[in-house]
Amino acid sequence: MNVSFRSNFPSLQGKMKNGAPYVFMDGPAGTQVPAQVINAISGYYIHKNANSHGRFITSSLTDDVVQDIRSAMVAFLGAKNESEISLGPNMTSLAFSLSKAFSRFFQAGDEVIITQLDHEGNRGPWLALREKGIIVREVKLLQEGRLDYDDFESKINERTRLVAMGFSSNILGTVNDIQRVRQLTHQYGSWLLIDAVHGAPHFSLDVKALDCDFLLCSAYKFYGPHVGILYAREGLLDRLQPDRLRTAGQAAPESIETGTPNFAAFAGVTAAINFLESMGSGNSVREKLIWSMENIHQHERDLFIKLFRGLEAMEGVHIWGLPPDITERAPTLSFSILNQKPELFCSYLGENGVFAWNGHFYALRTVEILGLRAQDGVIRMGISAYTTAEEVDLVLEIIKKGLK
Ligand SMILES: Cc1ncc(COP(=O)(O)O)c(C=O)c1O
Repeated sequence: MNVSFRSNFPSLQGKMKNGAPYVFMDGPAGTQVPAQVINAISGYYIHKNANSHGRFITSSLTDDVVQDIRSAMVAFLGAKNESEISLGPNMTSLAFSLSKAFSRFFQAGDEVIITQLDHEGNRGPWLALREKGIIVREVKLLQEGRLDYDDFESKINERTRLVAMGFSSNILGTVNDIQRVRQLTHQYGSWLLIDAVHGAPHFSLDVKALDCDFLLCSAYKFYGPHVGILYAREGLLDRLQPDRLRTAGQAAPESIETGTPNFAAFAGVTAAINFLESMGSGNSVREKLIWSMENIHQHERDLFIKLFRGLEAMEGVHIWGLPPDITERAPTLSFSILNQKPELFCSYLGENGVFAWNGHFYALRTVEILGLRAQDGVIRMGISAYTTAEEVDLVLEIIKKGLK
């Protein structure tokens, strides 16, 4: 990405008191937003602020805001139409609402499969189904950082109603073999739900190609504000009974949406998608988005390999997960430093303007399986579309200085 791309993001100009530039390696926990998003949010409050479905201009403009975000997400995910796109405050809330709806649909003795490589947001809601007598099985994670597909094959059976799996891991970056999983879910007639929160910022997603039944993502990871998005294959949500008021919309996509949403944030999400689209080229919005996301993916991949190789060469640094130069990898890197606590090291990085996370990032099961809990997790860095090669060099230099 070039300098003009970065100039869209006002926060990238941030500086420490000593003049050191802010270096945002915290993208996996949420990216920075371009001015277009900030303007859309403030513009909403200036020109459109109202509740929906009223007989006056600001209210009908708010109705348009809701319609626009659904259309933008249809294009972003390659969905069929707006009835497949539901909105909520974040991914976790939508997953819990869906879980409640599943609990009314599944029977005791039915089975659900989750994995050891997932964020708790894609585990807790399905583990809660155990209260209804539903059996939850967990696919093993191999120490190398990949799911054990033989274990998955041994666990799926004719009672499996749902497989909930991440697109890519928010701690190791591993991209799961969704195609292989989909074949088996088809064989056994189970629904496939994909947590794409960590996939959406780095890959061009296509719900039709993934052939999933449900997909969840969160706009604050792809240059937008905090809004959760649920894709549910046309017709599926209408077979479920989510918690809802009798005064609210009873059909998809509204049936799982509760209360008055954050309309201003919706306007921000549409602006984020429009921004991504404006970076692409093609004949349709969808084509431009695919182009743009593939371009981002390539840019991030090159920098990720650079970061990985630089770290790998440092004594006392251990990188977790798969090698960087495979396609099944998001540009997210977790590592440990010999004799240094992640929290202390991240404080050191933070004091030097490098923003990186320490801990488990809610991928607690993965941290447990890798035996990293006693060490208080890992240090995580993520490459984003706005990351530069100079920043990666600077990060490597600062890390090297911090090694004892
Ligand atoms: C892979 C993954 N799934 C789910 C979530 C939860 O998303 P939200 O914060 O929108 O609830 C996150 C957040 O970090 C995540 O990285």
